[in-house]
Amino acid sequence: MIGTLDPLRLEHEIILAVVERMERAVSEPQSDGTGPFLLACVEFLRRFADENHHGKEERALFPAMRENSRLADLAEVLLEEHGEGRRLYAEIEKAIAGRSAAAVTLAVLDYADHIRAHIRKEDEMIFVSVEHALGAAEGARLAREFARVEAETLGPGGTGALLAALDEARPPQ
Ligand SMILES: [Fe+2]
Ligand SMILES: [Fe+2]
Repeated sequence: MIGTLDPLRLEHEIILAVVERMERAVSEPQSDGTGPFLLACVEFLRRFADENHHGKEERALFPAMRENSRLADLAEVLLEEHGEGRRLYAEIEKAIAGRSAAAVTLAVLDYADHIRAHIRKEDEMIFVSVEHALGAAEGARLAREFARVEAETLGPGGTGALLAALDEARPPQ
């Protein structure tokens, strides 16, 4: 059903906006603010992008895709890419701990490339096919499951609290 995956598309926009802030932070580094801000961004990615957004995909969307023979393989490709994303943002933390500005920049750009390509694949190739394949009842079931995952992972403050925490980390402008 068209529109079923709009909540996930909206979350993609939020993730991409944070990734852009990370890229700006490494392109104009401030000696005292860049590391803490990037660590706050990684924490945001872990909570919002991974636990919440990828949680919705892995716990609700991918199981629905596996029930369709044309979409089952694509679910496995996306799942693997989620694992690669986790590895790449852990590299950002390692680079910050190693205090190498060049390594931090490289790790941020690697992650940005990866997540942009992943989101583009979902937005432009996969989500429309999934929406065409899902009926209204399956769409309603997914919406309920998305709400359940979000409540479990983001807690009462939701997305707004996570974004506010990120702003408090004083992003370099
Ligand atoms: Fe994904
Ligand atoms: Fe996604």
